[in-house]
Amino acid sequence: AEPLKVAVLGCGSVGSQVVRLLDEQADDLAARIGAPVELVGVGVRRLDAPREVDVPEGLLTTDAASLVTRADLVVEVIGGIEPARGLILSALESGASVVTANKALLAEDGPTLFEAAAKAGRDLYYEAAVAGAIPILRPLRESLAGDRVTRVLGIVNGTTNFILDKMDSSGAGFAEALEEAQELGYAEADPTADVEGFDAAAKAAILASLAFHTRVTAADVHREGISEVTAADVASAADMGCVVKLLAICELRVQPDGEEAVAVRVHPAMIPRSHPLASVREAYNAVFVESDAAGQLMFYGPGAGGSPTASAVLGDLVTVARNRLSQTRGAGESAYTDRAVLPMGET
Ligand code: HSE
Repeated sequence: AEPLKVAVLGCGSVGSQVVRLLDEQADDLAARIGAPVELVGVGVRRLDAPREVDVPEGLLTTDAASLVTRADLVVEVIGGIEPARGLILSALESGASVVTANKALLAEDGPTLFEAAAKAGRDLYYEAAVAGAIPILRPLRESLAGDRVTRVLGIVNGTTNFILDKMDSSGAGFAEALEEAQELGYAEADPTADVEGFDAAAKAAILASLAFHTRVTAADVHREGISEVTAADVASAADMGCVVKLLAICELRVQPDGEEAVAVRVHPAMIPRSHPLASVREAYNAVFVESDAAGQLMFYGPGAGGSPTASAVLGDLVTVARNRLSQTRGAGESAYTDRAVLPMGET
């Protein structure tokens, strides 16, 4: 079969690992897809920035807008709203299938992207947007689609889990634990999105949308971060046999009128040490799902980092490439049910 032309937008910690895996796994990918994959370009902001991989000669470009029109498959790992949104929309318009890891964009403006994908008849897949390498979006959208999910509890931010775990295990204060997370490269230099819960809130909106087949955006999520959690709070939780975790809590609630509504919130919570989520240490992530027929499930693994996140990106790439070859389209999003989303995660 003809090679599938792949463009990668962004060459940071995730993008560079995607480029590495596309090269190292080229033969296996071709066998699994049924056609070879050809990297046609890597869109970057600056050609001379230091990178974790050697991008083959001539493939780096600052002209992402023209790159996306030359590709069958576009991988967006730039992050943030613009220019990512504009590039994804123009990729879809020009007939490319898209894989993205962009939680902020999906949580803010997912419906615009899904509509554009539907109109173009192309795939938009985003397993890497929530909890890195952990397969959780496909299970919610597909494997559990015949069940009724009632609650999703997630530890979906590695940086804050590392900080809280450090405070719990060593008695350190927030500032000291944050500094260590930064030294180890978990937290960003500006850690606001992590410690104030914005990153977890975006992921919560995506999880709730798929779990309850209802459109939820970041603005619907009540959010409180961990910067006010003190060593004394963690110690008193420990005295009660509990551990403090930053949880994304997504619930399906039956209202007094019998209608179902969705409530989503992110805040530090005390959980008993006997709960499976209490065993999630360091920068790991986990998502605990409760449903009527299956009961309780837990998905666990590395939730951040270039290589784990690239694993999820490549999995999506194989799926959208196969769909393309068989001229089908996968279910990148749920078929939605109209349901109220309670304002600001009202309890
Ligand atoms: N900053 C995020 C985290 C990266 O710490 O989990 C993955 O989205």
